[in-house]
Amino acid sequence: MTNPSLLILPGDGIGPEVMAEVRKIIAWFGAKRGLNFDLSEDLVGGCAYDRHGTPLHDDTMAKAQEVDAVLLGAVGGPAYDKLDFSVKPERGLLRLRKEMDLYANLRPAQCFDALADFSSLKKDVVAGLDIMIVRELTSGVYFGEPRGIFKEGNERVGINTQRYTESEIARVARSAFELARKRGNKVCSMEKANVMESGILWRDVVQEVHDAEYADVELSHMYADAGAMQLTRWPKQFDVIVTDNLFGDLLSDLAAMLTGSLGMLPSASLGAPMENGRPKALYEPVHGSAPDIAGTGKANPCACILSFAMALRYSFDQGDEAARLEAAVNQVLASGVRTADLMQKDGGTPATTTQMGDAVIAALEASL
Ligand code: IPM
Ligand code: MG
Repeated sequence: MTNPSLLILPGDGIGPEVMAEVRKIIAWFGAKRGLNFDLSEDLVGGCAYDRHGTPLHDDTMAKAQEVDAVLLGAVGGPAYDKLDFSVKPERGLLRLRKEMDLYANLRPAQCFDALADFSSLKKDVVAGLDIMIVRELTSGVYFGEPRGIFKEGNERVGINTQRYTESEIARVARSAFELARKRGNKVCSMEKANVMESGILWRDVVQEVHDAEYADVELSHMYADAGAMQLTRWPKQFDVIVTDNLFGDLLSDLAAMLTGSLGMLPSASLGAPMENGRPKALYEPVHGSAPDIAGTGKANPCACILSFAMALRYSFDQGDEAARLEAAVNQVLASGVRTADLMQKDGGTPATTTQMGDAVIAALEASL
């Protein structure tokens, strides 16, 4: 049997540093758990632009379509801020999402016990928090046409279009309901049906899919602005939240910060099943390229490590090994090892990116 294939795209900023730690973890699973991957590596984002004049080379795009899963670090940085919109690092990531048709973006917001004090909210509001935001990722205002900056009379007008078809809404709703069945069996759908027609359709279709196929799952609807408010007021009322591309972008950053640090949160972007039954998939940390700390050893590799855990679970059917890795991270945090983003002001010496990776490996060793 051939090994499953994994394309690694470290990207820019802290991407390569955190990915180096993930590579150590992947090697550990090969050596100690017999889980071997056919690994390849390529460029995405600013580094791809520097090399090829495009943030995602066609060859890389083709490779991403062939592999069983893609693991991405982060893209972007100030060096690329002035580039034309069409070749900005982010366009590389958006092209991957769109052409692989990764319509369901899973963003867990989980509060690690050891980190409940790091949230800006009171401890009892966030302790034990475990919610999953399912963000539609390939449509909506991110991709709708018409779009652009046009001349209208003697001024410019900027246009983006929010557009959703029924099938686009239905498929991401199904992803949310399926996930809910494996968790708390509750879905809250968020839109702005009070002001947007696309929101009215969203609400209707989610309800229809529910009534026809998932009547056993508890479904509620909320306006996205009220949802943001409820997320900060009492986030534990939620289990799975399903929402569109733009609201999902905002709400997932909000939810991430509830847990104390963006440096801890992974994500999975999943598409339709391939011939081998695995979903098309890209895994990446929720955090960005953090150019301000790149190269300083301050980056927290946990979000990227946990993204690999999601790959084990959702692409490679290794839920037990994913749980082993998640438990190892949890244990390292509980033992007090912290990267700089997780240090209280009076907190002693932070672990470097490499030391954090090594600590996770030690915890994995201890789990055998
Ligand atoms: C995210 C990011 C991206 C987005 C950017 C980098 C294009 O904010 O993954 O949430 O807006 O989707
Ligand atoms: Mg975002």
